[in-house]
Amino acid sequence: MDFIDLKTQYRRYQAAIDERIRRVLEHGQYILGPEIAELESALAAYVGVRHCLTVASGTDSLEIALRALDIGPGDEVITVPFTWISTAEVIRLVGAKPVFIDIEPATFNLDLDQLEPAITSRTKALIPVSLFGQMPDYDAINRIAARHQVAVVEDAAQSFGATQRGRRSGGVTRIGSTSFYPAKPLGCYGDGGALFTHDDALADKMRALRVHGGLKRHEHPLIGMNGRFDTLQAAVLLAKLPHFDAELSERRRIGARYSDALRAVCPVPEVMPGNTHVYAQYTIRMPRRDALAEQLKTRGIPTAVYYPKCLHEQPAFAACGYRWGDFPVSEMASREVLSLPMHPFLTEPDQDRVITAVREAQ
Ligand SMILES: Cc1ncc(COP(=O)(O)O)c(C=O)c1O
Repeated sequence: MDFIDLKTQYRRYQAAIDERIRRVLEHGQYILGPEIAELESALAAYVGVRHCLTVASGTDSLEIALRALDIGPGDEVITVPFTWISTAEVIRLVGAKPVFIDIEPATFNLDLDQLEPAITSRTKALIPVSLFGQMPDYDAINRIAARHQVAVVEDAAQSFGATQRGRRSGGVTRIGSTSFYPAKPLGCYGDGGALFTHDDALADKMRALRVHGGLKRHEHPLIGMNGRFDTLQAAVLLAKLPHFDAELSERRRIGARYSDALRAVCPVPEVMPGNTHVYAQYTIRMPRRDALAEQLKTRGIPTAVYYPKCLHEQPAFAACGYRWGDFPVSEMASREVLSLPMHPFLTEPDQDRVITAVREAQ
């Protein structure tokens, strides 16, 4: 059994993927070739925003977003310590200070009650993370942000395809950022990411930042980066996109099946009213997590821990001055979470093996 099965996915869509790749090899426009614009308009329509810009990774996309918002030294950006390092890394990369707030245990997303008290006169932006594939309450987040005139950048790296009250993840905040890392719900065959916005001026600025700070060759009004998405990777996503919604329904079906079977034995990822979950990870909590992982491994079931340490425990963030005990729910989560095999091609017998093994674990 695979934790994530990219080989089966490739075999299912092989003809379309191979054909798309072949066309790129034929036309040879590897950098910002026609597939990039085609993909960007398809993704903008899918998310329901005016602009989509593909970029080299979900980390570059977050950094470009913060730079486009002119965030830098002296500024504070609020996020959570229970996330992948990129979310807070980019805050330090632009010279600003990450301010952490804790998460709530049912969804692993930010604790809304802690958001407003954390906002100061130096706060420039919020980066809520739609962790594991479910969005926190963006109506509430956007209301608080508007009251304090701070920007919201959704880190939708894990939630591409998720919805909240009918709106797609990536399209509910000033800027949305996602990742196409191979294991993400919509993954390419390398690194990749995208930015989403309704704002024309921000889109132009982000487009310039993506290519060395300028839109015209040899003119560089801004300091930018080489953050372009590869044409070949765009071709892969164009071949996968027509199957994406069907894959999401399978993910949701498997997630619901796991939850119905496991709710009695451990906390399962609850889906909040108005949300759909894409289960980038299907993550349960168990106090004896490491023992459970060992038992599943002996039965041939792969698992993963996202994330075994919170960001305030990482030496890279020592300068922020946080200590163990500052974020008890995140700390508890980092010690108890375990992600189970989850992908759209997981067969019912394999789902049942996972369920039985978790239920029978000591
Ligand atoms: C929450 C979160 N943010 C940001 C990223 C960064 O994406 P990438 O790996 O494409 O740079 C990831 C994925 O790794 C992620 O899970």
